Amino acid sequence: MNTIGLNTEYLRHFVNDGELAGIHEEVLRAKRTLLTGSGRGNDFLGWVDLPETLSPEIVQSIKADVERLRTQARLFVVIGIGGSYLGARAVIEALQSEFAAMQSEGGYPYIIYAGHTLSEDYYCQLMQMLDKYEYAVAVISKSGTTTEPAVAFRIIKSHLENKYGKTEAAQRIIAITDARRGALHDIAQQEGYRTYVIPDNVGGRFSVLTPVGLLPIAMAGYDIDQLLQGARDMRKLCIDSDSLNENPAMLYAAIRNLLYRKGCKVEILENFVPQLKYISEWWKQLYGESEGKEGKGILPHSLSFTTDLHSMGQYVQEGERLMFETVLSVAQPNGHVNIPSDDKNLDGINYLLGKSLTEINHNAELGTILAHNDGGVPVLQIVLPTVNEYILGALIYFFEFACGISGYTLGVNPFDQPGVEAYKKNMFRLLGKPGYTN
Ligand code: PA5
Repeated sequence: MNTIGLNTEYLRHFVNDGELAGIHEEVLRAKRTLLTGSGRGNDFLGWVDLPETLSPEIVQSIKADVERLRTQARLFVVIGIGGSYLGARAVIEALQSEFAAMQSEGGYPYIIYAGHTLSEDYYCQLMQMLDKYEYAVAVISKSGTTTEPAVAFRIIKSHLENKYGKTEAAQRIIAITDARRGALHDIAQQEGYRTYVIPDNVGGRFSVLTPVGLLPIAMAGYDIDQLLQGARDMRKLCIDSDSLNENPAMLYAAIRNLLYRKGCKVEILENFVPQLKYISEWWKQLYGESEGKEGKGILPHSLSFTTDLHSMGQYVQEGERLMFETVLSVAQPNGHVNIPSDDKNLDGINYLLGKSLTEINHNAELGTILAHNDGGVPVLQIVLPTVNEYILGALIYFFEFACGISGYTLGVNPFDQPGVEAYKKNMFRLLGKPGYTN
């Protein structure tokens, strides 16, 4: 198996073949709505063809920027929030060593983040690092007006100019924003920054395969060609097949909607390898913002096992029955560690000798799934052969395509997010922003 697959074995007491056959036509209609651009939000469908239409010149240009900046920067600050932040972080954290901060990986900068918080302590600590290390910056905002990244950029731009002088600072900044509008676009023009465009028809949470995600991922030293190839191959599968057995995105959309109609209002995305934690964060935004509207939508939640089995495991096993679980199951690790033998066996774990850690982890996973099944929780497994750029590209496209179909099957516009404006209006009024004072 060289791509992701779904295992529905642990759903069989909760969803039967007849029910799947029953929803097939609805899901197919949703897929056609998506592909013909005949549904709500159809001006934001640029992501569907992105793996095919992204120009090779953009990829080349990103690589050239990486080569130019990697020798000058020990740190690379990615400023952005929501869709202008989570996709890049999800891929980078899935691929990098858990201890990457302590070592320089192959001569590429270590990626740090800003613009995703307003915590003063966070920026104090960030400034201390920026005093100490050479760095460069990508500032990412589609609207170019979002408060959190604007505040972060104001602070970091000033630091960068003090550290390197205005001319060199400008060469260390890349702006990724709208082609024509927004404050960031205007600043970039005026200051002469390198810029990349976020296409008009690609919304924030669907933008990881544009320069929004590709530039930081390449800057961290990862292979964006393979990422795009994985997405391209998954796109073909998602578009070509109308069968639930063959098309994983259609099957996932069908299962989620069936379970939701049966009262499973919460979906918990789980991993047994902590490097996928930010994939869950990205996924939560993708599904939460796309489906949580008009009083509807599955609440996306996430857990990292086995860590959280020792906390939230109790609730999943015996708490209110309102959830189903989707397990990101990784078949093969990228490295190996043996369990040493110990003649005294005082810790009592000699029975594990000869088993790999992955074998032990897989048994923890299966044991958990069976226990939760017994506790009345439906479990879907998404099986990843391993974690690499190609598989992550396939996973990203799979989740995006399934999200579009799932949202249309639910009956909402998956491509808007009117609800995220409410807090901003209050914040602007409280802070006295002109035009918001009453
Ligand atoms: O998915 C979305 O549209 C949002 O999460 C945005 O990405 C987020 O609000 C940041 O917006 P912007 O890129 O305009 O700064």
